[in-house]
Amino acid sequence: QANQNIRNFSIIAHIDHGKSTLSDRFIQHCEGLSEREMSAQVLDSMDLERERGITIKAQSVSLDYKARNGETYRLNFIDTPGHVDFSYEVSRSLSACEGALLVVDASQGVEAQSVANCYTAINLDLEVVPVLNKIDLPAADPDRVCQEIEDIIGIDALDAVHCSAKTGIGIEDILEELVKRIPPPQGEVDAPLKALIIDSWFDNYLGVVSLVRVMQGRVAKKQKIRAMHTSMDFQVDRVGIFTPKMKDRDYLEAGEVGFIIAGIKEIDAAKVGDTFTDASNPAQTALEGFQEVQPRVFAGIFPVSSDDYEGLRDALSKLNLNDASLSYEPETSQALGFGFRCGFLGMLHMEIVQERLEREYDLDLITTAPTVIYEVEQTDGEVIRMHNPSQMPPINKISEIREPIIKANILVPQDYLGNVITLCIEKRGVQTNMQYMGTQVNLSYEMPLSEVVLDFFDRLKSVSRGYASFDYELSHFSAAKLVRVDILINGDRVDALAVIVHADFAQARGRDLAERMKEIIPRQMFDVAIQASIGTNIIARTNVRALRKNVIAKCYGGDVSRKRKLLDKQKKGKKRMKQVGNVEIPQEAFLAVLRVD
Ligand code: GTP
Repeated sequence: QANQNIRNFSIIAHIDHGKSTLSDRFIQHCEGLSEREMSAQVLDSMDLERERGITIKAQSVSLDYKARNGETYRLNFIDTPGHVDFSYEVSRSLSACEGALLVVDASQGVEAQSVANCYTAINLDLEVVPVLNKIDLPAADPDRVCQEIEDIIGIDALDAVHCSAKTGIGIEDILEELVKRIPPPQGEVDAPLKALIIDSWFDNYLGVVSLVRVMQGRVAKKQKIRAMHTSMDFQVDRVGIFTPKMKDRDYLEAGEVGFIIAGIKEIDAAKVGDTFTDASNPAQTALEGFQEVQPRVFAGIFPVSSDDYEGLRDALSKLNLNDASLSYEPETSQALGFGFRCGFLGMLHMEIVQERLEREYDLDLITTAPTVIYEVEQTDGEVIRMHNPSQMPPINKISEIREPIIKANILVPQDYLGNVITLCIEKRGVQTNMQYMGTQVNLSYEMPLSEVVLDFFDRLKSVSRGYASFDYELSHFSAAKLVRVDILINGDRVDALAVIVHADFAQARGRDLAERMKEIIPRQMFDVAIQASIGTNIIARTNVRALRKNVIAKCYGGDVSRKRKLLDKQKKGKKRMKQVGNVEIPQEAFLAVLRVD
């Protein structure tokens, strides 16, 4: 039987409620690291993560905690990503645990994302242990937040530990609670191996490293293992645990959490949620809950300079090594040239990829407005899936277009309820439920994903002064009156500026887009005509007037170096521009569609 002094747990917390700070305290308390090594937060290991304050990759730490009863417990803490884009990863991390620590900022309260993750944890039969963090803040209101946890999540929070990850108050009390309340792992050591892959990542020196929870059996060095969903076999080179440094062991057995390195070259061979079993004595069934992650949001990424195309391909393939949910395929745009159509889990994922490409690979890129997947039923009966407006068949060939609909849960304080409802209606939302829970209201809506992709999150935050929070899951496809609005510049259709919108809003959106283009496109040596159209029907037109004077004209007769400087300056300013026909279009133009107000 599995070691009964093990406790496996995750932390559920909304962004900024103090998960990283708290986990650092745990490590410090159990002396996993020296003071000096503690200087930086250890769990969020990627720079970008730290800068944006978001945890992207799940990781784990194994700590030995000497409890007040004199026994030593092995605490395996599995870190989870804190954003809605990564909810599948969260569900896999949670299913590797027997318990979860719900951390709520006592000066803020419960947020929709944490609620969703708590429900996942409760459905997986985890023991949820609430704690109230940031109790040191003058604005902390533990009684109110406690009541909120009970009202909204429905778990007993009366004796939730009050703590401050910052000052260190209550840390040991939390560890005691964990040991007392979270059940020890189940699972037979002698059964055939079943190890859940919580996360896999690519390391330049080690190849693919997988973080696993052994559910039953044991995995040892030299053993032949099989990934059950891909049916591929590998020989184990190393197994071990994170303390948080990698520490080798001879084997891991039922109940334990640690890493496996098995000469795997691609993370696709060891997917999150898959089961490793013993190749010579395989388990009958894989662990439940495996899913292929599907991108939901797509955008074109193009190099500003066509010389960077190969560089971009390289960079994408490198990022892909570590991020199986990023997809990409070559795309050719008349306007932007050669680039890639990339698929992402959501908007945050897209921003992260874009930033890494630019920062780590030093590429200047133009990104087109994101779009969702549409199902198009053609008059000939064929159904195509379209993730690029330029793939839309001619109107007379379309019998129906269906768009993805999400189920959204929004938590909002009563004061902002009206604003949020207005916003949801504007976003074509249909209310399915509304429930008062203490001072907050829980709203459920069905809403088109495309509207959420646009700017829903930012708008929600602004109409609620930051207090509303939101979580969603994909629900179904539903028919809608959708049309493509094209933008024409000097009579040429710019494919990368096309957007798909609801017919009722197409006129307004077309006018709005044309106006925006007028503001964004710099004046040139000639008049630039901007038009918006649906099919051949022009719905809006405007002009960018020609520049009156050539910049170089004022250098006439001046010295050459001054002239060159001016030209250089002009060239620098051009960096994020793309020549389309004879007009230069800046990056902002391609994202203008994102800002609708
Ligand atoms: P993600 O990694 O994005 O999920 O955020 P997080 O939940 O890990 O939050 P993090 O630990 O980075 O803390 C967010 C901010 O809150 C930081 O500025 C911390 O210094 C601060 N903070 C964390 N715990 C406490 C606390 O107990 N008291 C006070 N006053 N501040 C705290």
